[in-house]
Amino acid sequence: MTVLRIVTVVGARPQFVKAAAFASAVRARSEGARIHHDLVHTGQHYDDAMSGVFFREMGIEAPTIDLAVGSGGHGEQTGEMLKRLEPVLMDLAPDVLLVYGDTNSTLAAALVAAKLDLPIAHVEAGLRSHRRSMPEEINRVLTDRLSTLLFCPSEDAAANCRREGITSGVEVVGDVMRDAIDGQLRSLPDGVLAEFGVVAGQYALATIHRAENTDDPVRLAGVLDGLARVASSGLPVVLPAHPRTRIAADLDLLAGRGVIVVEPQSFARMVALEAGARVILTDSGGVQKEALWVGVPCVTLRDETEWVETVESGWNQLVGADAAAIEAAALAARPAGEPPQLYGDGRASERVLDALLREFDG
Ligand code: UD1
Repeated sequence: MTVLRIVTVVGARPQFVKAAAFASAVRARSEGARIHHDLVHTGQHYDDAMSGVFFREMGIEAPTIDLAVGSGGHGEQTGEMLKRLEPVLMDLAPDVLLVYGDTNSTLAAALVAAKLDLPIAHVEAGLRSHRRSMPEEINRVLTDRLSTLLFCPSEDAAANCRREGITSGVEVVGDVMRDAIDGQLRSLPDGVLAEFGVVAGQYALATIHRAENTDDPVRLAGVLDGLARVASSGLPVVLPAHPRTRIAADLDLLAGRGVIVVEPQSFARMVALEAGARVILTDSGGVQKEALWVGVPCVTLRDETEWVETVESGWNQLVGADAAAIEAAALAARPAGEPPQLYGDGRASERVLDALLREFDG
């Protein structure tokens, strides 16, 4: 019996959630022994709240290796990853490299694998904001260009690949984040809302971490003022603060204006907070979809989105970084009927695994 050797490279919080979904698909296979799966952590995210807790709580195997690259400018961070990943991938010599999403860790791993002539499978392929000034957009475009298998969460994403001339290896499998949230919704932790002094259906949940908001003082001031205005209009706002946001802003000032600023949350606690919210205010990609899946209206603090179907369905509005627009949208947001079934059926990881076995095993 041949063994399929997969190496997955992860580094940032959303990739741990995706890796958890895939790890559970690997475990569920009776022929699990035919798969040898190594996880490599670049160390892009390193705090316990941003990394460790996901491994402990979500049943992800400990990384075979942690490269401990940490923070830095884009060039420095990506360069360190290239340097440290090359000998690791040479040594592990997988049949295929698996990467998720659009982070610097994704691009670094894809570039090293391409130079070593290793096949690359990209999960969350084909997403585009169509704005090249976004670091994630560069990471996506280049990773897709280098990939052998491109696993798309939607038809729109597959159409983006075709528009860029990529036709071979493109498959719409749905979204592995959907797999993860389906599992989590079956066992939500108790008491999370009460801990923050909020009541189901009577608070807003907010997240901010995109460089376009945190690294632009005018936009950041607009977003933070928007959250404070929502809180002072009588709708409490819970903000699990990303480290990037804490570095960029004085969040004590925001807390002084009534926003409930808390530490980054584990996936289980985050889903509980999402499911209980009246409205979600975010610049995250994953959280826009999770809002739809838990049936909570979303106000996106960006000027465009890769998840266009959420906007077309009426469950998501793009408001940018203007404080008055954020306040008005948050207070007026209402569910738009029954949420449509978007981005798959919770079995995307199984399809990814099937395709890898089909393509690379023996
Ligand atoms: C990255 C990804 C983004 C993804 C996001 C999820 C890129 C270009 N961006 O952005 O696509 O949506 O992760 O969170 O890869 N920090 C800590 N502790 C940590 C992690 C980060 O303090 O555990 C701080 C660092 O000091 C740094 C800042 O957060 O200043 C940002 O870290 P970075 O590695 O750029 O990632 P994100 O902004 O999170």
